[in-house]
Amino acid sequence: MCGIVGYVGPKQATPILMEALRRMEYRGYDSAGIAVLNNGGIEIHKAAGKLSVLAGELEGREPVGTTGMGHTRWATHGAPTTVNAHPHLDQSGRIALIHNGIIENSTAIKKALLARGHVFLSETDTEVLAHLIGELYEGNLEEAVAAALRDVDGAYGIVVLSADEPGTLIAARNGSPIVLGLGEGENLVASDQSALLDHTRSVVYLDNGEMAVLSANSYRVRTLTTRQIDKPVNQIEWDLATIERGGFDHFMLKEIFEQPESIENTMRGHLLEETGNVRVYGLKLSDTDAKKVKRIIITACGTSWHSALIGKSMIEELARIPTDVEYASEFRYRNPIVDSETLVIAISQSGETADTLAALLEAKQRGARVLGLVNVVGSTISREVHGGMYLRCGPEIGVASTKAFTSQVVALAMVTLRFARLRTMSLLEGRRYIDALQQLPAQIQQVLDCAPEIEKLASRFDGATNALYLGRGVNFPVALEGALKLKEISYIHAEGYPAAEMKHGPIALIDENMPVVVVAPRDAVHGKIVSNIQEVRARGGKVIAIVNKNDEEISRLAEATFIVPETLDLLTPILTVIPLQLLSYYVAVNRGCNVDQPRNLAKSVTVE
Ligand code: AGP
Repeated sequence: MCGIVGYVGPKQATPILMEALRRMEYRGYDSAGIAVLNNGGIEIHKAAGKLSVLAGELEGREPVGTTGMGHTRWATHGAPTTVNAHPHLDQSGRIALIHNGIIENSTAIKKALLARGHVFLSETDTEVLAHLIGELYEGNLEEAVAAALRDVDGAYGIVVLSADEPGTLIAARNGSPIVLGLGEGENLVASDQSALLDHTRSVVYLDNGEMAVLSANSYRVRTLTTRQIDKPVNQIEWDLATIERGGFDHFMLKEIFEQPESIENTMRGHLLEETGNVRVYGLKLSDTDAKKVKRIIITACGTSWHSALIGKSMIEELARIPTDVEYASEFRYRNPIVDSETLVIAISQSGETADTLAALLEAKQRGARVLGLVNVVGSTISREVHGGMYLRCGPEIGVASTKAFTSQVVALAMVTLRFARLRTMSLLEGRRYIDALQQLPAQIQQVLDCAPEIEKLASRFDGATNALYLGRGVNFPVALEGALKLKEISYIHAEGYPAAEMKHGPIALIDENMPVVVVAPRDAVHGKIVSNIQEVRARGGKVIAIVNKNDEEISRLAEATFIVPETLDLLTPILTVIPLQLLSYYVAVNRGCNVDQPRNLAKSVTVE
């Protein structure tokens, strides 16, 4: 996510801003910029790429001034270019804004501003907000910001300054964190406590709908409508390393716990409740084009290939379009049957996986239309496809993919709805899916709240050298994903298998020493998987089952069960995968493994 910092006080702002941005580099970003008030105006410097690029540009010509702000951008709207980097100015050039989040109604606001003669330089929703504030400014920046935010839908964490109000910073929060740092004769604001630690441990956390007015010797917190509210001053207890992980012991655990928010961001602005449909401009797929699609191929690697398997089930079940899933490394060297009526979907968190890139280029060359479901904005794959959708789940630092997987499945559910509502799905069915998708963040939170139960289950893997994961239907890919998670971070060999296939070989492995994890929600094949559990038990195997509430039948058979909330069959993987992510994490921690950087693995496999 983006990094935000502001400073107002007696010291030169530029070095403070740059150091604070360095403290937030771990969060992942693709461009950076600062704005400093000086000589009655605003001096802005920004650059695509890492902070070192910006630092190079500032060399020997650092802006002089004691009020300023800085930003590292994780692109969501618009490619990671210098023009799109923050800060952004209003029409007058007298107001500057930095922003973390997504303004959902920016298109409508921009249209109205364009009609009133505004000229925009970037593709960002942030610049739209800057222009809106500028248009509402009548000599009081605080009130202009409040008025603008009352017209805004979406998530934001912002800092604003004006050349006409030197020594003042305005901050506001709705959904994206903003914390004030209170110093001696100086005050700061940031999106992350790590940026404040060099200056103060006294902080005030803004809550959603709140704003702050900062000067060197004072601060005031308010809401969009009330000029003053009281807020407690807290003391930061954590050290820097702990802060960077958000208080979690590892990035992987932080990212597992981010999933309610990350899938909310993936869905944000796309779900149309009224029509039971989705709106994903990025797909660049007209209804006419979508109707021409006769076959779909989804290509990916690793965890992304697992989400592709779930996508196949969704698309074939709901949109009735024949869909194949291909390992990208295989697809690229086969002689695949691809033509203009084939839609190829490439899935990649990093957007840089060499095999997936090569596969999509091969498909393009054969005349297919190619879509990308990618997390990293501006990545190679995202630039090579004809259209697509950004996962917007924020940077995934842990090598083992977790939140990207659930966001991929949600994105595939939305792509499925796009096709299904054109062809086979009724309005009411569409609304049913939209409603089920909207409930997922809270349901994931329910699962995460029971993490301590999973931590207890992890001890059943003490001494294990093998494990078997079983699932049926749309939860067979979840078994594959759970097995991949375990082996890549705990180094215990694990295999995912279709539950019914177990009797065609792997059943020979069953004994009391090999944990067997069965993904068994109450879906259409629940009765069948009960039989599979009985087969395991009959051979002395010990089963850990992922079930829905009140599943007495499986509770009697399994050594241990973990309950997940119920949802539509095709969406169950988004919930059943969470305990498997947590299980692999706790087993790896118990074994003293390097959870975030497992041996031999890279976060992005950019070579064949
Ligand atoms: C997942 O935990 C692994 N780190 C790996 O399988 C990964 O999913 C695969 O390399 C694909 O990466 P991508 O999604 O960035 O293309």
